[in-house]
Amino acid sequence: MANKFLNPYIDQIKQFHGLVFSDDECASAIKSVKGPIHLDIGCGNGEALVYEASKDPATFYIGVELQYKEVFRTALKIQKAGLKNCAVFKMDAKKLPDLFCAGQISGVNIFFPDPWPKTKQKKNRLIQRGYMLRLSSKLIPGSEIRIRTDNDDYFLSIVNTIYGLIDELGITVTEFTRDYYLKGKKEDECITAFERIFLKQGLLINALYFNVAKPFEGNI
Ligand SMILES: C[S@@+](CC[C@H](N)C(=O)[O-])C[C@H]1O[C@@H](n2cnc3c(N)ncnc32)[C@H](O)[C@@H]1O
Repeated sequence: MANKFLNPYIDQIKQFHGLVFSDDECASAIKSVKGPIHLDIGCGNGEALVYEASKDPATFYIGVELQYKEVFRTALKIQKAGLKNCAVFKMDAKKLPDLFCAGQISGVNIFFPDPWPKTKQKKNRLIQRGYMLRLSSKLIPGSEIRIRTDNDDYFLSIVNTIYGLIDELGITVTEFTRDYYLKGKKEDECITAFERIFLKQGLLINALYFNVAKPFEGNI
């Protein structure tokens, strides 16, 4: 008898052979990629991931996602688009930087990371100094990291973290705004699924984009 408590997407993602990788498969999947890799951390339903991968066939795009349902939706989009330069990792992004070699990552999107708004939860936020150092250590020098969030408190903490790393990582800020859509939608960028919801609610979208010239070389 089928277990009604079992998440149906655990089984359903098995059909996407070569598109979905679980924790223990991710390291070898990365090794098989020859060129630069662009990450979409917390890719949700994969809308932005597939949009960007379609425009940039020379780069391999990896979406990283914890939830089975979102992994399923992302894989379905990749399959329907017929993309050969895109995959989704079902894993906790906290473990992600350790899987890469230095100089493998050419760009990172972190769009609407879970905000963990309560004081006791803030330690769970992904974007913190240690994580950004670990992630930056795997970047190709000059790579861009793009962050957007509707959550003002998280944004201020992100800004503090990144501005605290400016000298160490040779950071150049290319976009810093509390209202990303003030002048309308940017050409060539995708509004993500969560972003659409937040915009409908009348929330402002914070954005911080920056380039990293000196990837971190130490140990954490
Ligand atoms: C608010 S949603 C944003 C999704 C998508 N980026 C968008 O803008 O529509 C945050 C997503 O990050 C995923 N997520 C949160 N923490 C994560 C982690 N540690 N590793 C991987 N994914 C994570 C959640 O499952 C969720 O799908």
